[in-house]
Amino acid sequence: MTALAAAGTTAAVLPGPLDPLVDGFGRVHRDLRVSLTDRCQLRCTYCLPEEFQDWLPGGRLLSADEILEVVATAVPLGIRTVRLTGGEPLLRRDVVEIVRRIAELPHAPEIAMTTNGLRLAGLAADLAAAGLDRVNVSLDTLDPETFRRMTGRDRLRDVLSGLAAARDAGLRPVKVNAVLVRGRNEHEAPALLRRALVEGWSLRFIEQMPLDAGRTWSRERMVSAEDTAALLSEAFSLTPLAERGSSPAEEWLVDGGPATVGIVASVTRPFCGDCDRVRLTADGQVRGCLFARHESDLVPVLRDPALDRRGRRHAVEAVLRGAIGRKQAGHGMGEAGFVPPLRPMSAIGG
Ligand code: 5AD
Ligand code: SF4
Repeated sequence: MTALAAAGTTAAVLPGPLDPLVDGFGRVHRDLRVSLTDRCQLRCTYCLPEEFQDWLPGGRLLSADEILEVVATAVPLGIRTVRLTGGEPLLRRDVVEIVRRIAELPHAPEIAMTTNGLRLAGLAADLAAAGLDRVNVSLDTLDPETFRRMTGRDRLRDVLSGLAAARDAGLRPVKVNAVLVRGRNEHEAPALLRRALVEGWSLRFIEQMPLDAGRTWSRERMVSAEDTAALLSEAFSLTPLAERGSSPAEEWLVDGGPATVGIVASVTRPFCGDCDRVRLTADGQVRGCLFARHESDLVPVLRDPALDRRGRRHAVEAVLRGAIGRKQAGHGMGEAGFVPPLRPMSAIGG
């Protein structure tokens, strides 16, 4: 029985902590994505424009204790995977401590991380020892000049060292996320896959979504999943694997397998019906969707000195359930009246 139920409210109004996180469409939530910071060393054109200035003030970021409070509340509610994202999560000085503390929770979830890989070479071993299970590294090109043009920085070598370190640390499978941008890197799709096969990376191409702070996205210019499959088919034979479940990537066998490649058709074939994700921004807002127009603020609850630990957990749970309860059926990209979120991907958490 919850504290509220004990105080006289019916349990039906606020279900007990063992009830899963279900939204109005019956979707059970098992995946919590936690943005550790909105900062990033790169300026990927589809994410952060060079002139972006709208950073969160340092004092607004949740502390490690506050993040742990949210994760520790969410895990007994059925969260099975916690993904640490950003911005660039490895820019947080306390990232190893955060991983370790999540791994030490009772019934610890699987811990994954989405990173640009720049600091992985120095951190992969410590992260693995702390309990990180796996990483997704963003890599759109194998050409140093194209990398510089797409990210604003000359750091391809650091990403490749990071990927090697992740593999050596046992953070497997090493997943690589690639976004194809028309006129920039789409011709590299087969080369990226060839390299992935050699290195043992599990590669996924992601359709570019209208999440860039610079508002440059257009559906016409986007390299679609269909385009990506066609580009890859010039060099490989692709066979679709059935059933993607709640995983957003449609998987294809490459040259008869066993290797596979994923294509995430977020825009052209949305997978919202299977969505099991909920997001926590670096400044303590819960979002039911990348594209949600609404955020639920955890900060007043996390910083309320009048709440004891039990009271705080119940209040955090109520905010999580409220945010999930408000989830829409889908993101609405491509529908009339669609409005992109006010914040860029770097602030929301990928
Ligand atoms: N569309 C699709 N993917 C994006 N990413 C960042 N911005 C976008 C966007 N607008 C990707 C990054 C990274 C992950 C967090 O999301 O490349 O792999
Ligand atoms: Fe940084 Fe990732 Fe955004 Fe690129 S996509 S600027 S690596 S947060």
